Amino acid sequence: MAKVAVVGLGGMGSRIARRLIDAGHELTVWNRTAAKAEPLGVPIAESPAEAASRAEVVITMVADPPALQAVTEGPEGVAAGADENTTVIEMSTVGPAAIERLGSAVRADVLDAPVLGSLSEAESGTLSIFVGGDEHVFERRRELLEALGKPIYVGPSGSGAAAKLVANSTLITIIGALGEALALADALGLPREKAFEVLGTTALAAQAERRRPALESHDYPPRFPLRLARKDADLIAELGLDLRLTEAGRSWLAEDGNGEQDYSAVLERITRR
Ligand SMILES: NC(=O)c1ccc[n+]([C@@H]2O[C@H](COP(=O)([O-])OP(=O)(O)OC[C@H]3O[C@@H](n4cnc5c(N)ncnc54)[C@H](OP(=O)(O)O)[C@@H]3O)[C@@H](O)[C@H]2O)c1
Repeated sequence: MAKVAVVGLGGMGSRIARRLIDAGHELTVWNRTAAKAEPLGVPIAESPAEAASRAEVVITMVADPPALQAVTEGPEGVAAGADENTTVIEMSTVGPAAIERLGSAVRADVLDAPVLGSLSEAESGTLSIFVGGDEHVFERRRELLEALGKPIYVGPSGSGAAAKLVANSTLITIIGALGEALALADALGLPREKAFEVLGTTALAAQAERRRPALESHDYPPRFPLRLARKDADLIAELGLDLRLTEAGRSWLAEDGNGEQDYSAVLERITRR
């Protein structure tokens, strides 16, 4: 079992920490809002640097690139406490540029290992984990990652972060496509019941079935907050590529709305037009 530090205990990080504790690892944790660390019942470090200095593996799971910089750089950051024997496993969705920056900030080995799957998958250890970095380092840390889900090695440093943007581009376009297909059905006078029957024969069948209960109850329990989905759409947009469908999906996500609600609540806005 390993000495592990988990830095960032939001919806995902807190569940990842809990699984590692349950798997028998020796944990130290740190979170900007310290109160969120207390329920885990493990030592709480004073800073990310202190957490890193106590661990052989440091997992970072924070909101976005500025948050990653805040917890890894400067005198209090992970880089100040990690050394060449440490492995930093960066699991947030931050894109390849942030991973490059992290790699030059720390002396440690770095794996980028963002995840697909949400709160329930983090809780049950069934995340898909896209891993970039040195393959030997990955093999050394494979077992630890397997406590969290299914690791898929995708290539050198930054490849995991790239893979995650690819995966999330599909979320962004599919939610828009589903909303617009339903809006079209409404406008043409097809009852919802029939619209779902029709969508069940198309490439969107699984997604339509999955979103149907929320669409019918108008209740979208938060799993993947809209503010994080917007952040991912922005990370893709910053690449400056000609991705017109992703851009269209991004325009739906960017409309006003409570960023704390689940991103799928965008369906409500598209179909109410
Ligand atoms: N939720 C999902 O379904 C899901 C699924 C896959 C991937 N992801 C990705 O996983 C990452 C974490 O998601 P989450 O759902 O756990 O988000 P979250 O619940 O919003 O938690 C965000 C974490 O980042 C910390 N943070 C934010 N800004 C910070 C700053 N400037 N300095 C230090 N810490 C900061 C927060 O600290 P405080 O507690 O102090 O605010 C909290 O620990 C994100 O990159 C997200 O895109 C999420």
